[in-house]
Amino acid sequence: MNWICPHCREPLVKVERSYHCETGHCFDQAKEGYVNLLPANRKRSRDPGDNREMVEARKRVHAADVYRTLAEAVAAYFKELSHASVLDLGCGEGYYGGVVLEHAPKISMWGIDIAKPAVRLAAKAHPRGRFAVASAYEVPLGDSSMDAIFSVFAPVGESEPARLLSHEGFFLNICPAARHLWQLREHLYADPKPHKEVAAALPGLALEKQEKIGFSVALEPPLLADLVAMTPYAYGGQRESKATLEQLGVFEVQMEFLLQCYRREQATA
Ligand SMILES: C[S@@+](CC[C@H](N)C(=O)[O-])C[C@H]1O[C@@H](n2cnc3c(N)ncnc32)[C@H](O)[C@@H]1O
Ligand SMILES: [Zn+2]
Repeated sequence: MNWICPHCREPLVKVERSYHCETGHCFDQAKEGYVNLLPANRKRSRDPGDNREMVEARKRVHAADVYRTLAEAVAAYFKELSHASVLDLGCGEGYYGGVVLEHAPKISMWGIDIAKPAVRLAAKAHPRGRFAVASAYEVPLGDSSMDAIFSVFAPVGESEPARLLSHEGFFLNICPAARHLWQLREHLYADPKPHKEVAAALPGLALEKQEKIGFSVALEPPLLADLVAMTPYAYGGQRESKATLEQLGVFEVQMEFLLQCYRREQATA
């Protein structure tokens, strides 16, 4: 099993350090081991996805294991899998994929993200994984090729999980629950609104199970600044409140997530 060509959707075959399809399209492997399968004409901007500053801020937050409790809860869904292909959609720099691999070392880990700086770090961190720069709306993998898929706070092309999953496969979607980062949002916004707790309708899949997990973390100012830099709050909130974050000292923040597990809809007789 391998990547497919983003132009003609034929399988890509790896010859030395390049991937080729039968039609003649060719993609070179980067030195970090990933491949860029995002055609320039399908980019909406020069550097789509999270920028380098966001990616590096998230790397520092993950290095401090601020999200470890969530990562362990995600990995628990995969720990029984062996010799299975698992895809991390919108993998960022590969933190969750790494924790999943710790719990399920025999799986094949695949990851895509539209941000090249993120994919570069993911490929460097997990040489055993296979990573590509690609869009979650047009994943360069074949139909029914994945045994499981997960996505942590990343966009999902609504018909892609059902297309990519094998018959018995499942898709785990992680999104923020109502009061995720509540104290931070209260600090940044005059009138913060709780996140809406909804499960996306995904064609061909049914929500089998939803769980909510929450915990609180105490963050020192530099990590708090990184947490803001890696979230949409980097571009929102009140400038004065952001400036005072540094003076807060250790700040206790509530983390709250929804883990939504989908499976293929059973055909009714
Ligand atoms: C909030 S970050 C989460 C990253 C990672 N899953 C994590 O939690 O550490 C969202 C990610 O989605 C990526 N992204 C945004 N739009 C995308 C798209 N259309 N296709 C694939 N990835 C996308 C961003 O580049 C970013 O890495
Ligand atoms: Zn091709």
